Amino acid sequence: MPITLKSAEEIAKMRRAGRVVAEMLEACATAARPGITTADLDKVAREVLAKRRAKSNFLGYHGYPAVICTSPNDVIVHGIPGDYRLEEGDIISIDCGAIIEGWHGDAARTIPVGEISEEARKLLTVTEDSLWAGIEHVRKGARLSDIGHAVQTVAEGAGFSVVREYVGHGIGRAMHEEPQVPNYGDPGKGMKLKVGHCLAVEPMVNLGSPETQLNDDGWTVITADGSLSAHFEHSIAVTEDGPEVLTVLD
Ligand code: MF3
Ligand code: CO
Repeated sequence: MPITLKSAEEIAKMRRAGRVVAEMLEACATAARPGITTADLDKVAREVLAKRRAKSNFLGYHGYPAVICTSPNDVIVHGIPGDYRLEEGDIISIDCGAIIEGWHGDAARTIPVGEISEEARKLLTVTEDSLWAGIEHVRKGARLSDIGHAVQTVAEGAGFSVVREYVGHGIGRAMHEEPQVPNYGDPGKGMKLKVGHCLAVEPMVNLGSPETQLNDDGWTVITADGSLSAHFEHSIAVTEDGPEVLTVLD
């Protein structure tokens, strides 16, 4: 599949999908209190999808069984909602997606459950900062690798490590389109971004080593050293006026 440019009308539909995703994340963040299960969070997200008459892009994706991913503590990404009960002091990464009129949105954020450690708080702040540093380069004339370089500089500058095995992606009529968007690398390489390119940028940042391990369920990705991991993601369009983050509330 070639890398496609989206028209203003198409971006308007992606914006609507993005609003639904932001609403799912907001509802899950509010619900993420000690005692609630990750399956409860999936239910909260399903209710938003139903209310907005949006479809799930996660459910059934290569057989995936839920509408969100819930990844607590040392889980990096793709944790499956189930009977895990959130505890005071946990961090939990929630990844949400939605489809409106065939157009996709995808976003994630890591949420503190009650009072969390200073170390965990710093991991969350730095990972979100690294995402925004990357978003800054989702603009006309920038090179694809400028994004990952900016992410890596912020994350590693704070003493954390960046996951290599999982990357961001193009987004549009499919959740995962070309190109891949790594969260590391040298600047000034790869394709030149144009108005109409739409990307999901999604740094996964570990407190310890960057190595990952896949659990037996075939989905859940954890840190090899058991350290905490955070994940922040937005879907972004390149516009004449710079980056437009699509996965935000109105
Ligand atoms: N939203 C994830 C991503 O950012 C993909 C989730 S796929 C699923 O690329 F099958 F786990 F839902
Ligand atoms: Co994504």
